[in-house]
Amino acid sequence: MPTATTAAVDLFTEKIGRGENIEPRDPMPEEYRRHLIRQISQHAHSEIIGMQPEGNWITRAPSLRAKMILLAKIQDEGGHGLYLYSAAETLGISRDEMIAQLQSGKARYSNIFNYPALTWADIGAIGWLVDGAAIVNQVMLQRTSYGPYARAMVRICKEESFHQRQGYEIMAKMAAGTPEQREMAQDALNRWWAPALMMFGPPDKDSLHTKQAFQWKIKRESNDALRQKFIDKTVQQAEVIGLKIPDPELRFNEETGHYETGPLNWEEFHRVINGDGPCNRQRLEHHIRVHEDGRWVREAAAAYNQKFN
Ligand code: 3HC
Repeated sequence: MPTATTAAVDLFTEKIGRGENIEPRDPMPEEYRRHLIRQISQHAHSEIIGMQPEGNWITRAPSLRAKMILLAKIQDEGGHGLYLYSAAETLGISRDEMIAQLQSGKARYSNIFNYPALTWADIGAIGWLVDGAAIVNQVMLQRTSYGPYARAMVRICKEESFHQRQGYEIMAKMAAGTPEQREMAQDALNRWWAPALMMFGPPDKDSLHTKQAFQWKIKRESNDALRQKFIDKTVQQAEVIGLKIPDPELRFNEETGHYETGPLNWEEFHRVINGDGPCNRQRLEHHIRVHEDGRWVREAAAAYNQKFN
């Protein structure tokens, strides 16, 4: 990793000022490098851990078509994790170190994947709300200042929009189905709505990293601004399929042109991201077990590589 002298830091600051990408061989302040490793690895872990709640439903998908679409989506998420781990590796951290940080609980992953997927409607809610929220956040990240991260986001966003549609299609079908199916769709929306809003991170006033992330153009929009964008889009989508957003304080403000919502339970958010959500232990135990089961594959690939490359 190039170390940043004063002249190099000036060069970095000028590049950021001109809105140019920072590339792996460019000098960069150590704090910028660490900030990105934290965020990109957290993002990669989220993609990989996020495969678990959906993976549980592959064998129970209600049709061959639904099963094929779900399989493709989950494979995409695995791919996203790999692009993101690769982007983080260009900053001088190894994949093994990142995995060790995840498994020891040192590195976070998104709050949302610590909730259970209880019914098929939850698969719809995850695609619609979770991937929907991810797109709103990630469209901004296509213009983030670190080149490898920005480029990874371009492809990821295209795939996420397919994911969002598959989820919305499931919800639309169930909402128009039998009374029981409609009830399942509403119940899934009720349970996933607030955790999905929390995916954008704490309110701006409590966000630790936003100010610095703005200065370095890692973030282009704040947690609250992105949350509001997501709310405005999604409330209308719920109306179209006849589902009710589970918030008695929801109202449209004619003056601002935005929907206003009731308070979120940030105490729950902090509990979940600090390891005490409904599924945290299960998610990490599963990751550790499967990673260990795959050890022989990694060893065989490394041995092959050594012998033939
Ligand atoms: N889940 C878990 N932790 C979260 C969080 C969330 N939803 N939102 C914030 N946090 C954590 C932060 O990591 C930080 O903790 P740390 O200092 O220990 O790292 C703390 O809460 C304070 O939050 P900040 O607002 O200061 O943090 P950031 O400036 O990093 O903003 C973020 C948080 C908006 C999530 C930003 O990191 C980001 O844009 N990350 C990239 C996107 C991402 O990670 N998405 C993952 C979810 S979607 C997905 O991957 C799967 C898809 O297929 C559906």
